[in-house]
Amino acid sequence: MSFSLPDLPYPHDALVPYMSKETLEYHHDKHHAAYINALNTLIKGTQWESKSLEEVVVGSFGKSTPLFNNASQDLNHTYFWKWMKPGGGGAIPGSLEKRINADIGSTEKMRDDFVAAGVGQFGSGWCWLAVKDGKIVVMKTANGESPLVHGAKPILGCDVWEHSYYIDYRNRRPDYIKAFLDHLVNWDYVEELFQKAV
Ligand code: FE2
Repeated sequence: MSFSLPDLPYPHDALVPYMSKETLEYHHDKHHAAYINALNTLIKGTQWESKSLEEVVVGSFGKSTPLFNNASQDLNHTYFWKWMKPGGGGAIPGSLEKRINADIGSTEKMRDDFVAAGVGQFGSGWCWLAVKDGKIVVMKTANGESPLVHGAKPILGCDVWEHSYYIDYRNRRPDYIKAFLDHLVNWDYVEELFQKAV
């Protein structure tokens, strides 16, 4: 089996002004496509060809760095497009909000912690909301690592690689993460993943 690039769930210009058409043309059409092309080359003729993407990510972690990096980035980006929508941000669905308040303290603290995790990730990586041991936690990971390899299920992730924001925000990573939370996040999808994770 080979993996293929999923379509964006909206047109390339749908997230303007918070994420430009040019960013999505590079990020989805070129960066994500490159991860998938590399992944398909690496799995060709190996045991991994018959596995699901999640199985490749978890199984290759710590064993084959090039395979893991490309598989995990394929998985992360496949979610990432769906974690955003035009007119996103806004109110968090009630049941998810309740659990955020119970596990993290408040939605404001979750927002502050999420932004701090993304800003504090030195170099490339991701900041996350994930479910670990039944609780919602804020995490950050380096490069392409998914929370899956740290015993947690991702329910929201923000790509803080420069390729995700440099065209639109230059060096202003904090402004990009705040815009992501306030104007782009598809909270209904986050809620759906949260319900599956618990
Ligand atoms: Fe990316």
